[in-house]
Amino acid sequence: MKQEPKPAHLIPKLQYAFVFAQHQVEQLVTRYPDFFPMYTQGGKWKHEGEAWTNWCEGFLGGMMWLFYRRTGSETWRQRAEHYSRLLEHRKHDRTVHDLGFVFWSTWKRWYDLTGDAKLNEVIITAGQTMGLRFKEKGQYLRSFVADNSLFIDIMMNVGIVFYAAQQTGDADLLRKAHAHCLTTRRVLVRGDGSTAHEGIFDLDTGEFLRQSTHQGWRGDSTWARGQAWALYGFGTAYEMTGERKYLQTAKMCADYYIEHTSFEDDAPFGPGVPPNDWQEPGSQAESSAAAIAASGLLNLARLDQDPVYAARYRQAALIILDTLTGPDYLADQTPGWEGILMHGSYHQRKGLGVDESVMWGEHFFVEAIDKALTLLEGEE
Ligand code: GLY
Repeated sequence: MKQEPKPAHLIPKLQYAFVFAQHQVEQLVTRYPDFFPMYTQGGKWKHEGEAWTNWCEGFLGGMMWLFYRRTGSETWRQRAEHYSRLLEHRKHDRTVHDLGFVFWSTWKRWYDLTGDAKLNEVIITAGQTMGLRFKEKGQYLRSFVADNSLFIDIMMNVGIVFYAAQQTGDADLLRKAHAHCLTTRRVLVRGDGSTAHEGIFDLDTGEFLRQSTHQGWRGDSTWARGQAWALYGFGTAYEMTGERKYLQTAKMCADYYIEHTSFEDDAPFGPGVPPNDWQEPGSQAESSAAAIAASGLLNLARLDQDPVYAARYRQAALIILDTLTGPDYLADQTPGWEGILMHGSYHQRKGLGVDESVMWGEHFFVEAIDKALTLLEGEE
Protein backbone atom coordinates (compact mmCIF):
# COMPACT_ATOMS: atom_id res chain seq x y z
CA MET A 1 0.00 0.00 0.00
CA LYS A 2 1.32 3.46 -0.85
CA GLN A 3 2.07 5.91 1.97
CA GLU A 4 -0.74 7.61 3.85
CA PRO A 5 -1.28 11.10 2.37
CA LYS A 6 0.22 13.90 4.44
CA PRO A 7 -2.32 16.08 6.33
CA ALA A 8 -0.95 19.23 4.66
CA HIS A 9 -1.87 17.69 1.30
CA LEU A 10 -5.14 16.00 2.24
CA ILE A 11 -6.86 18.49 4.58
CA PRO A 12 -7.25 21.23 1.93
CA LYS A 13 -8.54 18.68 -0.58
CA LEU A 14 -11.10 17.40 1.92
CA GLN A 15 -12.15 20.93 2.86
CA TYR A 16 -12.55 21.87 -0.78
CA ALA A 17 -14.61 18.74 -1.52
CA PHE A 18 -16.83 19.47 1.49
CA VAL A 19 -17.54 22.97 0.17
CA PHE A 20 -18.12 21.61 -3.34
CA ALA A 21 -20.55 19.01 -1.93
CA GLN A 22 -22.57 21.78 -0.28
CA HIS A 23 -22.66 23.68 -3.55
CA GLN A 24 -23.95 20.66 -5.47
CA VAL A 25 -26.62 19.81 -2.88
CA GLU A 26 -27.69 23.46 -2.75
CA GLN A 27 -28.12 23.45 -6.53
CA LEU A 28 -30.00 20.17 -6.39
CA VAL A 29 -32.58 21.28 -3.81
CA THR A 30 -33.01 24.67 -5.46
CA ARG A 31 -33.52 23.14 -8.88
CA TYR A 32 -35.72 20.22 -7.74
CA PRO A 33 -37.37 21.07 -4.40
CA ASP A 34 -38.59 18.10 -2.31
CA PHE A 35 -37.29 15.66 -4.89
CA PHE A 36 -35.40 12.59 -3.64
CA PRO A 37 -32.96 11.49 -6.32
CA MET A 38 -31.29 8.10 -6.54
CA TYR A 39 -28.81 8.16 -9.42
CA THR A 40 -27.94 10.52 -12.24
CA GLN A 41 -28.39 9.92 -15.96
CA GLY A 42 -25.69 11.68 -17.93
CA GLY A 43 -24.92 13.59 -14.73
CA LYS A 44 -28.51 14.86 -14.21
CA TRP A 45 -30.56 13.86 -11.18
CA LYS A 46 -34.10 14.20 -12.56
CA HIS A 47 -35.14 11.52 -15.05
CA GLU A 48 -37.65 8.72 -15.51
CA GLY A 49 -35.21 5.85 -14.88
CA GLU A 50 -36.44 2.89 -12.83
CA ALA A 51 -35.76 2.98 -9.06
CA TRP A 52 -35.97 -0.82 -8.43
CA THR A 53 -36.64 -0.07 -4.74
CA ASN A 54 -37.01 3.02 -2.52
CA TRP A 55 -34.07 3.10 -0.20
CA CYS A 56 -32.22 6.38 -0.82
CA GLU A 57 -34.53 9.02 0.63
CA GLY A 58 -32.48 9.53 3.82
CA PHE A 59 -29.24 10.38 2.08
CA LEU A 60 -30.16 13.91 1.04
CA GLY A 61 -31.28 14.98 4.52
CA GLY A 62 -28.36 12.99 5.91
CA MET A 63 -25.88 15.17 4.03
CA MET A 64 -27.70 18.28 5.23
CA TRP A 65 -27.26 17.22 8.85
CA LEU A 66 -23.54 16.67 8.18
CA PHE A 67 -23.30 20.11 6.57
CA TYR A 68 -25.08 21.69 9.51
CA ARG A 69 -22.95 19.89 12.10
CA ARG A 70 -19.70 21.06 10.50
CA THR A 71 -20.69 24.59 9.40
CA GLY A 72 -23.37 25.61 11.93
CA SER A 73 -25.37 27.11 9.03
CA GLU A 74 -29.01 27.66 10.00
CA THR A 75 -30.03 27.24 6.37
CA TRP A 76 -28.67 23.70 6.37
CA ARG A 77 -30.36 23.05 9.70
CA GLN A 78 -33.76 24.14 8.39
CA ARG A 79 -33.35 22.14 5.22
CA ALA A 80 -32.19 19.10 7.19
CA GLU A 81 -35.28 19.24 9.43
CA HIS A 82 -37.55 19.73 6.43
CA TYR A 83 -36.10 16.82 4.44
CA SER A 84 -36.17 14.62 7.55
CA ARG A 85 -39.82 15.43 8.33
CA LEU A 86 -40.78 14.42 4.79
CA LEU A 87 -39.69 10.89 5.71
CA GLU A 88 -41.50 10.40 9.01
CA HIS A 89 -44.28 8.26 7.52
CA ARG A 90 -41.64 5.75 6.39
CA LYS A 91 -41.27 4.57 10.01
CA HIS A 92 -44.11 2.14 9.21
CA ASP A 93 -42.81 1.15 5.77
CA ARG A 94 -42.73 -2.65 5.57
CA THR A 95 -41.85 -2.80 1.87
CA VAL A 96 -38.11 -2.14 2.22
CA HIS A 97 -35.24 -3.45 4.34
CA ASP A 98 -33.63 0.00 4.37
CA LEU A 99 -35.12 1.88 7.32
CA GLY A 100 -31.63 2.20 8.81
CA PHE A 101 -30.50 4.09 5.73
CA VAL A 102 -33.63 6.24 5.87
CA PHE A 103 -33.68 7.10 9.60
CA TRP A 104 -30.10 6.68 10.87
CA SER A 105 -28.85 9.30 8.42
CA THR A 106 -31.59 11.79 9.27
CA TRP A 107 -33.65 11.42 12.44
CA LYS A 108 -30.81 9.83 14.43
CA ARG A 109 -28.47 12.72 13.62
CA TRP A 110 -31.26 15.13 14.54
CA TYR A 111 -31.92 13.31 17.82
CA ASP A 112 -28.20 13.18 18.67
CA LEU A 113 -28.06 16.97 18.38
CA THR A 114 -31.17 17.64 20.47
CA GLY A 115 -31.91 14.72 22.79
CA ASP A 116 -35.62 15.29 22.02
CA ALA A 117 -37.51 12.14 23.09
CA LYS A 118 -40.16 12.64 20.39
CA LEU A 119 -37.50 12.29 17.71
CA ASN A 120 -36.23 9.15 19.41
CA GLU A 121 -39.71 7.61 19.25
CA VAL A 122 -39.66 7.85 15.47
CA ILE A 123 -36.29 6.07 15.27
CA ILE A 124 -37.46 3.35 17.67
CA THR A 125 -40.65 2.78 15.68
CA ALA A 126 -38.61 2.45 12.48
CA GLY A 127 -36.36 -0.13 14.18
CA GLN A 128 -39.40 -2.07 15.40
CA THR A 129 -40.84 -2.02 11.89
CA MET A 130 -37.55 -3.44 10.57
CA GLY A 131 -37.80 -6.20 13.17
CA LEU A 132 -41.08 -7.37 11.59
CA ARG A 133 -39.01 -8.63 8.65
CA PHE A 134 -37.56 -11.44 10.76
CA LYS A 135 -38.00 -14.99 9.50
CA GLU A 136 -37.86 -17.47 12.39
CA LYS A 137 -37.18 -20.29 9.92
CA GLY A 138 -33.78 -19.20 8.64
CA GLN A 139 -33.15 -16.57 11.37
CA TYR A 140 -32.74 -13.47 9.18
CA LEU A 141 -34.39 -10.16 8.32
CA ARG A 142 -35.79 -10.72 4.83
CA SER A 143 -34.82 -8.51 1.90
CA PHE A 144 -37.32 -6.43 -0.05
CA VAL A 145 -37.35 -8.87 -2.96
CA ALA A 146 -38.86 -11.97 -1.28
CA ASP A 147 -39.42 -13.85 1.97
CA ASN A 148 -36.69 -16.36 1.11
CA SER A 149 -34.03 -13.71 0.43
CA LEU A 150 -31.34 -12.26 2.69
CA PHE A 151 -29.16 -9.37 1.46
CA ILE A 152 -25.71 -8.35 2.70
CA ASP A 153 -26.97 -4.72 2.51
CA ILE A 154 -29.21 -5.38 5.52
CA MET A 155 -26.10 -5.31 7.73
CA MET A 156 -26.28 -1.52 7.26
CA ASN A 157 -29.85 -1.54 8.57
CA VAL A 158 -29.74 -4.00 11.46
CA GLY A 159 -28.21 -1.27 13.63
CA ILE A 160 -31.57 0.45 13.99
CA VAL A 161 -33.07 -2.86 15.16
CA PHE A 162 -30.38 -3.18 17.85
CA TYR A 163 -31.09 0.42 18.78
CA ALA A 164 -34.87 -0.06 19.13
CA ALA A 165 -34.30 -3.22 21.20
CA GLN A 166 -31.79 -1.52 23.48
CA GLN A 167 -33.89 1.62 23.94
CA THR A 168 -37.03 -0.34 24.84
CA GLY A 169 -35.42 -3.30 26.65
CA ASP A 170 -37.04 -5.67 24.16
CA ALA A 171 -35.11 -8.93 24.57
CA ASP A 172 -36.90 -10.65 21.70
CA LEU A 173 -36.06 -7.86 19.26
CA LEU A 174 -32.44 -7.99 20.46
CA ARG A 175 -32.40 -11.75 19.83
CA LYS A 176 -33.62 -11.17 16.27
CA ALA A 177 -30.96 -8.54 15.54
CA HIS A 178 -28.17 -10.82 16.81
CA ALA A 179 -29.60 -13.81 14.93
CA HIS A 180 -29.65 -11.79 11.72
CA CYS A 181 -25.98 -10.85 12.11
CA LEU A 182 -24.95 -14.41 12.91
CA THR A 183 -26.90 -15.85 9.98
CA THR A 184 -25.39 -13.26 7.64
CA ARG A 185 -21.94 -14.11 8.96
CA ARG A 186 -22.58 -17.84 8.48
CA VAL A 187 -24.11 -17.80 5.00
CA LEU A 188 -22.94 -14.64 3.23
CA VAL A 189 -19.39 -14.12 4.57
CA ARG A 190 -17.00 -16.65 3.10
CA GLY A 191 -13.87 -18.12 4.66
CA ASP A 192 -11.60 -15.68 2.81
CA GLY A 193 -13.57 -12.65 4.03
CA SER A 194 -15.37 -12.10 0.72
CA THR A 195 -19.15 -11.77 0.71
CA ALA A 196 -22.10 -12.85 -1.37
CA HIS A 197 -24.80 -10.32 -2.11
CA GLU A 198 -27.80 -12.57 -1.42
CA GLY A 199 -28.67 -15.80 0.36
CA ILE A 200 -31.67 -17.93 -0.63
CA PHE A 201 -33.49 -20.06 1.95
CA ASP A 202 -36.06 -22.85 1.93
CA LEU A 203 -39.11 -21.24 3.50
CA ASP A 204 -40.56 -24.51 4.78
CA THR A 205 -37.47 -25.71 6.62
CA GLY A 206 -35.33 -22.57 6.98
CA GLU A 207 -32.45 -24.41 5.29
CA PHE A 208 -29.91 -22.15 3.59
CA LEU A 209 -29.83 -23.15 -0.07
CA ARG A 210 -27.38 -20.99 -2.03
CA GLN A 211 -25.57 -17.69 -2.55
CA SER A 212 -26.87 -15.43 -5.28
CA THR A 213 -26.60 -11.84 -6.51
CA HIS A 214 -28.52 -9.02 -8.14
CA GLN A 215 -25.95 -6.25 -8.52
CA GLY A 216 -22.78 -8.30 -8.66
CA TRP A 217 -21.59 -10.74 -11.31
CA ARG A 218 -22.33 -14.21 -9.92
CA GLY A 219 -23.49 -15.92 -6.75
CA ASP A 220 -19.92 -16.97 -6.00
CA SER A 221 -18.28 -13.63 -6.90
CA THR A 222 -17.79 -10.52 -4.78
CA TRP A 223 -19.82 -7.38 -5.40
CA ALA A 224 -17.70 -4.51 -4.11
CA ARG A 225 -20.52 -2.45 -2.60
CA GLY A 226 -21.80 -5.49 -0.73
CA GLN A 227 -18.29 -5.94 0.65
CA ALA A 228 -18.25 -2.30 1.77
CA TRP A 229 -21.70 -2.65 3.38
CA ALA A 230 -20.38 -5.71 5.24
CA LEU A 231 -17.20 -4.16 6.61
CA TYR A 232 -19.12 -1.07 7.71
CA GLY A 233 -22.22 -2.91 8.98
CA PHE A 234 -20.42 -5.55 11.05
CA GLY A 235 -18.29 -2.76 12.53
CA THR A 236 -21.45 -0.92 13.57
CA ALA A 237 -22.94 -4.12 15.02
CA TYR A 238 -19.78 -4.52 17.11
CA GLU A 239 -19.88 -0.90 18.21
CA MET A 240 -23.51 -1.24 19.30
CA THR A 241 -23.20 -4.58 21.12
CA GLY A 242 -19.56 -5.19 22.04
CA GLU A 243 -19.82 -8.64 20.42
CA ARG A 244 -16.28 -9.39 19.28
CA LYS A 245 -17.38 -11.85 16.58
CA TYR A 246 -18.79 -8.88 14.67
CA LEU A 247 -15.50 -6.99 14.85
CA GLN A 248 -13.62 -10.05 13.63
CA THR A 249 -16.05 -10.37 10.72
CA ALA A 250 -15.78 -6.67 9.87
CA LYS A 251 -11.99 -7.00 9.85
CA MET A 252 -12.07 -10.06 7.57
CA CYS A 253 -14.27 -8.12 5.15
CA ALA A 254 -12.04 -5.04 5.38
CA ASP A 255 -8.91 -7.11 4.80
CA TYR A 256 -10.46 -8.71 1.72
CA TYR A 257 -11.31 -5.26 0.35
CA ILE A 258 -7.78 -3.99 0.97
CA GLU A 259 -6.05 -7.10 -0.37
CA HIS A 260 -8.11 -7.22 -3.58
CA THR A 261 -7.94 -3.52 -4.45
CA SER A 262 -4.73 -1.86 -5.57
CA PHE A 263 -3.66 1.00 -3.30
CA GLU A 264 -0.70 1.89 -5.51
CA ASP A 265 -0.33 4.90 -7.81
CA ASP A 266 -0.81 2.75 -10.92
CA ALA A 267 -4.09 1.23 -9.68
CA PRO A 268 -6.52 0.70 -12.60
CA PHE A 269 -9.25 2.92 -11.10
CA GLY A 270 -7.00 5.01 -8.86
CA PRO A 271 -5.64 3.93 -5.46
CA GLY A 272 -8.27 2.23 -3.31
CA VAL A 273 -11.16 2.23 -5.80
CA PRO A 274 -12.55 -1.24 -6.63
CA PRO A 275 -14.37 -2.54 -9.69
CA ASN A 276 -18.11 -3.20 -9.32
CA ASP A 277 -17.27 -6.88 -8.84
CA TRP A 278 -13.75 -8.14 -8.19
CA GLN A 279 -14.16 -11.33 -10.19
CA GLU A 280 -16.10 -10.01 -13.19
CA PRO A 281 -13.90 -9.59 -16.27
CA GLY A 282 -13.91 -5.98 -17.47
CA SER A 283 -15.85 -4.70 -14.46
CA GLN A 284 -15.96 -0.88 -14.26
CA ALA A 285 -14.97 1.36 -11.32
CA GLU A 286 -17.44 1.64 -8.42
CA SER A 287 -16.69 4.85 -6.52
CA SER A 288 -19.63 4.55 -4.11
CA ALA A 289 -18.20 1.29 -2.75
CA ALA A 290 -14.94 3.14 -2.18
CA ALA A 291 -16.71 5.97 -0.32
CA ILE A 292 -18.64 3.53 1.91
CA ALA A 293 -15.45 1.56 2.54
CA ALA A 294 -13.54 4.74 3.49
CA SER A 295 -16.18 5.67 6.04
CA GLY A 296 -16.41 2.11 7.41
CA LEU A 297 -12.61 1.78 7.57
CA LEU A 298 -12.38 5.01 9.57
CA ASN A 299 -14.83 3.44 12.03
CA LEU A 300 -12.70 0.30 12.25
CA ALA A 301 -9.55 2.40 12.75
CA ARG A 302 -11.30 3.87 15.81
CA LEU A 303 -12.79 0.59 17.08
CA ASP A 304 -9.91 -1.85 16.60
CA GLN A 305 -7.63 -2.00 19.59
CA ASP A 306 -4.85 -3.62 17.58
CA PRO A 307 -2.72 -0.59 16.61
CA VAL A 308 -1.25 -2.27 13.52
CA TYR A 309 -4.67 -2.99 12.04
CA ALA A 310 -6.09 0.35 13.17
CA ALA A 311 -3.25 2.15 11.34
CA ARG A 312 -3.78 0.03 8.23
CA TYR A 313 -7.51 0.83 8.12
CA ARG A 314 -6.85 4.52 8.58
CA GLN A 315 -4.17 4.52 5.88
CA ALA A 316 -6.48 2.72 3.44
CA ALA A 317 -9.36 5.11 4.18
CA LEU A 318 -7.25 8.23 3.70
CA ILE A 319 -5.76 6.93 0.44
CA ILE A 320 -9.29 6.28 -0.86
CA LEU A 321 -10.33 9.82 0.07
CA ASP A 322 -7.23 11.25 -1.58
CA THR A 323 -8.29 9.48 -4.78
CA LEU A 324 -11.98 10.40 -4.59
CA THR A 325 -11.25 14.07 -3.94
CA GLY A 326 -8.98 14.15 -7.00
CA PRO A 327 -9.85 15.19 -10.55
CA ASP A 328 -10.82 11.71 -11.75
CA TYR A 329 -13.74 11.43 -9.32
CA LEU A 330 -14.75 14.85 -7.99
CA ALA A 331 -17.21 16.38 -10.45
CA ASP A 332 -15.99 19.96 -9.96
CA GLN A 333 -14.25 19.98 -13.32
CA THR A 334 -17.13 18.49 -15.29
CA PRO A 335 -19.43 21.39 -16.24
CA GLY A 336 -23.13 20.57 -15.96
CA TRP A 337 -22.60 17.45 -13.85
CA GLU A 338 -25.08 17.68 -10.97
CA GLY A 339 -23.52 15.10 -8.66
CA ILE A 340 -20.51 15.35 -6.35
CA LEU A 341 -18.75 12.03 -6.93
CA MET A 342 -18.52 10.50 -10.40
CA HIS A 343 -18.11 6.87 -11.55
CA GLY A 344 -20.49 5.14 -9.20
CA SER A 345 -22.76 2.31 -10.21
CA TYR A 346 -26.22 1.27 -9.05
CA HIS A 347 -27.33 -1.81 -10.95
CA GLN A 348 -25.11 -2.93 -13.81
CA ARG A 349 -27.32 -5.81 -14.95
CA LYS A 350 -30.40 -3.64 -15.20
CA GLY A 351 -28.33 -0.82 -16.69
CA LEU A 352 -29.40 1.62 -13.97
CA GLY A 353 -27.04 4.37 -12.89
CA VAL A 354 -23.87 2.90 -14.38
CA ASP A 355 -20.87 5.25 -14.37
CA GLU A 356 -22.97 7.96 -12.72
CA SER A 357 -23.33 9.77 -9.41
CA VAL A 358 -25.42 7.81 -6.90
CA MET A 359 -27.09 9.22 -3.80
CA TRP A 360 -25.54 6.80 -1.28
CA GLY A 361 -22.13 7.45 -2.82
CA GLU A 362 -22.65 11.18 -2.24
CA HIS A 363 -23.77 10.62 1.36
CA PHE A 364 -21.03 8.24 2.45
CA PHE A 365 -18.42 10.34 0.64
CA VAL A 366 -19.49 13.42 2.61
CA GLU A 367 -19.66 11.35 5.80
CA ALA A 368 -16.14 9.98 5.26
CA ILE A 369 -14.78 13.46 4.50
CA ASP A 370 -16.37 14.77 7.69
CA LYS A 371 -14.83 11.94 9.76
CA ALA A 372 -11.41 12.37 8.15
CA LEU A 373 -11.44 16.13 8.72
CA THR A 374 -12.41 15.65 12.36
CA LEU A 375 -9.56 13.18 12.73
CA LEU A 376 -6.87 15.15 10.93
CA GLU A 377 -7.80 18.62 12.15
CA GLY A 378 -7.85 17.24 15.69
CA GLU A 379 -4.24 16.16 15.26
CA GLU A 380 -2.98 19.54 14.05
N1 GLY B 1 -29.68 -1.92 -2.73
C1 GLY B 1 -28.61 -1.30 -2.10
C2 GLY B 1 -27.47 -1.08 -2.99
O1 GLY B 1 -27.66 -0.90 -4.19
O2 GLY B 1 -26.36 -1.07 -2.51
